[in-house]
Amino acid sequence: MEKDLGNYRKSYEKGELLLDNVPVNPMELFRNWFVEVDTHFNVGETNAMTISTLGLDGYPKSRVVLLKKYTHEGFIFYTNYNSEKGKAIDANPNVCLSFFWQAAERQIIIKGRAEKIAENLSDGYFESRPRGSQLGAIVSEQSEVVKDRSELEDKLKALEAKYEGKDIERPKYWGGYMVKPVEIEFWQGRPNRLHDRIRYQLQSNFDWKIERLSP
Ligand SMILES: Cc1cc2nc3c(=O)[nH]c(=O)nc-3n(C[C@H](O)[C@H](O)[C@H](O)COP(=O)(O)O)c2cc1C
Repeated sequence: MEKDLGNYRKSYEKGELLLDNVPVNPMELFRNWFVEVDTHFNVGETNAMTISTLGLDGYPKSRVVLLKKYTHEGFIFYTNYNSEKGKAIDANPNVCLSFFWQAAERQIIIKGRAEKIAENLSDGYFESRPRGSQLGAIVSEQSEVVKDRSELEDKLKALEAKYEGKDIERPKYWGGYMVKPVEIEFWQGRPNRLHDRIRYQLQSNFDWKIERLSP
């Protein structure tokens, strides 16, 4: 079975990224791009990002999670701390986040360190979630093997009965991580494969070194 994709080719013409007019702080550029893409391009879930971790088995692994907040300090997502990614982060907090907004011909790649956020912040976010999602977080021992789907559905039914009319508390094994960036690269597709790449690297004095990279 094979299919040759050699002629899948597209010219990128939707924007440009010039050193002259980028802000000194990459979080500002992130916000500008995020808002622009979210407002003017139909990308589905603007906040869907890939997070790559270095696994305990020595392999990198990437999967999609949802960015739930960004601040001047970093990027927050929520997950199960006991999941495969949670265990990987415990052993090595260095991670990579990436966004590909195809409709805007933009990619952002972030290297950083993941840290658990304060418990009260995870509590606050958990409380804001719909009941179904709260129960889902309890039902799912994320990344563990399950016998079949009915195991999950039965567990959900039992929990629905248990918590009927009651508030659902956040399980301690579920919460947020903030990824604090040390490097952020912005990629804007350009014609003739001469794409724009601007890389910010955090310096020890909280300044960012800004350089253009060859495409
Ligand atoms: C669009 C999309 C959004 C997702 N959002 C999350 C999320 O916010 N948190 C999460 O733990 N998993 C999310 N997932 C599921 C993860 O991709 C992954 O399957 C799960 O976290 C288990 O990963 P792990 O076993 O490598 O730890 C999402 C998947 C998709 C496709």
